[in-house]
Amino acid sequence: MTVFVFLAAVIGAVMMLPAAAEDIARGETLLKRLCAPCHAVGSADIGKHPTAPAFRTLGQQYPIESLEEALAEGLSTGHEAMPEFQFDAADVGAIIAYLKHIQQR
Ligand code: HEC
Repeated sequence: MTVFVFLAAVIGAVMMLPAAAEDIARGETLLKRLCAPCHAVGSADIGKHPTAPAFRTLGQQYPIESLEEALAEGLSTGHEAMPEFQFDAADVGAIIAYLKHIQQR
């Protein structure tokens, strides 16, 4: 029993680490595919649409977490030039993880 609990703890800890990196990578893939036509998605690229903010600077405006709801319920408010997007919970988590990862301090 003790061995089982120990093993479960080790497996749990090992599985949590790659999950975060995996989320970041998945968020990056999603955003590069869907948002890069207008936004700067990475840590040094330049956006193609003149008024679309670089994702790495979003955190200067508001906490990244505050985008969670918009991503899940449909991101369209205030952006006439921007198509509406909606993501499921797993994708929202991945996108938030990626956005946090690239924020400039
Ligand atoms: C067709 C071009 C286009 C695409 C594609 C696009 N955006 Fe935008 N986005 C814009 C523009 C233009 C603005 C600035 C609008 C404004 O200032 O009113 C903007 C603004 C934003 C903002 C800032 C909103 C705010 O109120 O500060 C966020 C966040 C955002 N986009 C996220 C995304 C995400 C996530 C994707 C991909 C899933 C995406 N955008 C795809 C054009 C686009």
